Amino acid sequence: MRRILSGIQPSGRLTIGNYLGAIKQFVALQHEAECFFMIADYHALTVPQEPEALRQQTLQVAAMYYAAGIDPQKATVFVQSHVPAHTELGWVMQCLAHFGELGRMTQFKDKSAGKESVSAGLFTYPTLQAADILLYQATHVPVGEDQKQHLELTRDLAERFNKRFGETFVLPEPLIQKVGGRIMSLDDPTKKMSKSNPNPNSYISLLDEPDVIRKKIKRAVTDSETEVRYDPEKKAAISNLMTIYALCSGLSLEAIEERYRGKGYGVFKADLAEVVVETLTPIQERYRELVESAALREHLAEGAERAAQVANRTLEAVREKIGLLPRGR
Ligand code: TYM
Repeated sequence: MRRILSGIQPSGRLTIGNYLGAIKQFVALQHEAECFFMIADYHALTVPQEPEALRQQTLQVAAMYYAAGIDPQKATVFVQSHVPAHTELGWVMQCLAHFGELGRMTQFKDKSAGKESVSAGLFTYPTLQAADILLYQATHVPVGEDQKQHLELTRDLAERFNKRFGETFVLPEPLIQKVGGRIMSLDDPTKKMSKSNPNPNSYISLLDEPDVIRKKIKRAVTDSETEVRYDPEKKAAISNLMTIYALCSGLSLEAIEERYRGKGYGVFKADLAEVVVETLTPIQERYRELVESAALREHLAEGAERAAQVANRTLEAVREKIGLLPRGR
């Protein structure tokens, strides 16, 4: 049986990049594997957060998981900080990781570039991510392309631990979609679409109103040609829009090329906007019902219990192997 773990940080509104690269995969996987999906609140603390906003955002990500189609009967959704084993194994992973290998993480380099002061947590963040995954003995980790290097580090740490202390951890495989693993910015197709981009026209938020979505897609950069053709190298902007179209509609890239042959970008963009609106509207409706509901807190409490059972088992094995004295007289 495959075991899946993945997570999302509750740091601001989620984008259609998070949905197409990650959440949509989660929804599909819950039918074929044992799944754990986390709201990575400890990861969000690596940059300053407003306490009340963080609490709200944590609930919002949880509501979004369920609104997008995660079934609480099938998958376990939980808040990372509700399962203390994450930070405990996180410390062990910090002590196993090398300073140099963490310094090579491109996400750390990007996020710290130009900043006057950067938290130590931002630097050691991938070791906590490794703990998240290894605690569940996850065989597969569905993520967007930007997490690939963190997954490689996780495998390296698991291997290092197994060599030093004996077989303990499963080495996890990343699940990254070929099309959709990296949704690009609407204003610059060389940059990843990101919720932290200060320009809101660069991303589609999962909670954007239909008219906002239409306006953003209309404004999205294209190129100086008119042909709707998939060519990520030469036509990065239009290929990105086609990717969004394909994943939201279920049509293949070829079918989209066929449908818009000779029609130009205007018609394509107008239809794309409707396809995105149709995808997000039902999710938004469910989200609004869930986000303030008592059921949401109930699901998270149950999720934390189920997650802790699995995580604590692994942590106990680790404690013994590395030589920590057992509790008790
Ligand atoms: P985060 O919160 O930045 O993003 C959540 C997920 O969304 C994917 N993603 C994208 N996919 C395609 N195109 C995009 N433009 C795009 N932007 C974001 C991310 O790749 C990710 O899968 N460190 C992680 C959270 C985490 C985690 C984990 C993930 C914590 N522990 C354990 C997997 C396993 C993060 O910051 O993701």
